[in-house]
Amino acid sequence: MLLLLDTANLEDIKKGIDLYPIEGVTTNPSIIARENTNFLSRICDIKDTIGSGRMLHVQTVGLKADDIVREGVYLNQLMGDNFYVKIPVIPEGIKAMKVLKSMGVATTATAIFTPQQVVMAARAGASYAAPYINRIDNIIGDGVKVVEDISRIISTHNLDIKVLGASFKNTEQIHKACLAGAHTITAPLDLVETLVNHPLTGASVEKFSIEWESVYGKKLTYD
Ligand code: E4P
Repeated sequence: MLLLLDTANLEDIKKGIDLYPIEGVTTNPSIIARENTNFLSRICDIKDTIGSGRMLHVQTVGLKADDIVREGVYLNQLMGDNFYVKIPVIPEGIKAMKVLKSMGVATTATAIFTPQQVVMAARAGASYAAPYINRIDNIIGDGVKVVEDISRIISTHNLDIKVLGASFKNTEQIHKACLAGAHTITAPLDLVETLVNHPLTGASVEKFSIEWESVYGKKLTYD
């Protein structure tokens, strides 16, 4: 299971990579717009910050296949290894996934609300599919159940696509999406931090320190 950061904020990316086993970054137009900066220079800065070993999924903004393909080819050339052109599963997006696949450009199908959209994206050649767990929950759906169904269809039909769970708002959604078979999850840094932090862990560490200090004082080495 891989963990990605869903952000275009450089400070969050630096902190996330420094502390946690972060394997890459995802963005979408809303995430980029929140930073209110030049798109291309920010994407390049993100690439430099994460280094060549980590993956980067950047969403296109065009709504026609030709535009999406043009953006995808340009970004792919600029970004190099481990880059995925993130494309919404609209009809023109599916067409763009097919074209980019034929050109050897890796894609991630995004804004997924149903398992059949994943079948379509897989057959069009996408490498990842990003179901929107919280947005599905918000329409009185069941985001985790959608992930379960996607995982089942992928394994039943041996589809060559991985589940990149997205749009999380709490740890329960992430936990259940992992159980439901998500191969990768993406979340903002504050949510990633809740996967580590627990009040009882904090209390245990505090007790260790108090009991250590009661015998050895503030000395923090073994010599
Ligand atoms: C990432 O790939 C998605 O675009 C993102 O997680 C959507 O999240 P949101 O529903 O919080 O906007």
